Amino acid sequence: MSHILILGGDGYLGWPTAMYFSNRGHEVTVVDNYFRRNACVELDVGMLYPVPTLIERARIWHELTGKEIKVLIGDLTDPEVMRCLFDGRAEYSWALNKNFTGIPETVVHYAEQPSAPYSLINYKYANITLQNNLLVTNNLMFAIRDFSRDTHIIKLGTMGEYGTPDIDIEEGWIEIEHKGRKDKFLFPRQASSLYHTTKIMDTDLLWFGARMWDLRVTDLMQGPVYGIETEESKIDERLRTIFNYDEIFGTILNRFIVQAVADYPLTVYGKGGQTRGYLNINDTLQCIHMSEQSSAQCGELRIFNQIMETFSANELAEKVQDVGKMRGYNVVLNHLENPRKEAEDHYYSPNYKGLIELGVKPHYLTNEVLEGMLQVVQDNKKNIRKEVIFRGITW
Ligand SMILES: NC(=O)c1ccc[n+]([C@@H]2O[C@H](COP(=O)([O-])OP(=O)(O)OC[C@H]3O[C@@H](n4cnc5c(N)ncnc54)[C@H](O)[C@@H]3O)[C@@H](O)[C@H]2O)c1
Repeated sequence: MSHILILGGDGYLGWPTAMYFSNRGHEVTVVDNYFRRNACVELDVGMLYPVPTLIERARIWHELTGKEIKVLIGDLTDPEVMRCLFDGRAEYSWALNKNFTGIPETVVHYAEQPSAPYSLINYKYANITLQNNLLVTNNLMFAIRDFSRDTHIIKLGTMGEYGTPDIDIEEGWIEIEHKGRKDKFLFPRQASSLYHTTKIMDTDLLWFGARMWDLRVTDLMQGPVYGIETEESKIDERLRTIFNYDEIFGTILNRFIVQAVADYPLTVYGKGGQTRGYLNINDTLQCIHMSEQSSAQCGELRIFNQIMETFSANELAEKVQDVGKMRGYNVVLNHLENPRKEAEDHYYSPNYKGLIELGVKPHYLTNEVLEGMLQVVQDNKKNIRKEVIFRGITW
């Protein structure tokens, strides 16, 4: 089984990914600097339930399964931290314990500041986002170029890179005919926040690395993810992933579910016609797995649109309202003045066949899935702080 390195292994997607691969017999190493947790403390946004530290979670995982997830706490904007993961040096490997076997076959890059509102709180948070995200990606690109060109980079992009164009969205690439000649280009991108701008720049960096140094890159244009439990987290509550319900770090469906349970009118921005592609957290894991099993070629930037179905904000709110009502909650929709600058009514037709063709079997957003999420939230209702749900970061 191959060695998988997960950058951002303490995060909402990183920790479930670590357990998923560990459970399937892979050697797994995770790196994180608690950026997300520290930002939650700094901005005073609560998580739904307390989560043990990454080191503690790896210990619990080992105790319950006998499997080992190696942990390094370090800031990946520091090139030396990044480089030690690929050059086999001993410098930082004490933290990974003596069994660290070095060079990974696959690296999954999640280690970014992932919030659009965070990136637009003010110039300070914009700077943090730009510096953090671009330095981590650049450090990764150079470490692989210098030490480990065969390592497959799986990088998380976002569907938000494309914006909401008035034409169908292709999977990463588009062929253009101009004045009688044809060529293939990255599909046009138009970010709706500075966070999304960094994701576009990440893509450009790695496309440069693929062209210049034959790096192997899979770039997953992911939509907003929802969900809490995965096969592995069901083993023990302490293994659950971090779950935010605030406006900064909570994703839309996760927020709506908490709002329903807290008797807080669902915060639909503007007309609610904003349509996006969504996926269950379990499908994120499958998509990473299928991408890992079928590596990109040397010099290839392979792009997939990582979504399973599309919904407008109104449709999501109505689904939560229906299931909430069945469970006795009086769920009301509140169309707030939109704090964001975005189209509220638009064409949206993305292509997302690639990952299904690789073998991903989608989990769709059924009432049963919504009820499962409601149950976990209900069990933790006492922790919900209504004052952090919406503060109105505008741009
Ligand atoms: N969750 C979603 O709905 C979603 C949707 C589209 C794309 N994505 C992308 O997926 C990736 C993971 O998202 P997530 O929701 O798990 O976010 P997250 O914030 O929960 O996870 C990212 C992790 O990376 C860590 N990190 C950040 N900067 C770091 C640094 N300099 N050094 C070491 N660790 C660092 C954070 O502490 C955090 O634990 C991000 O790149 C995000 O842009 C997420």
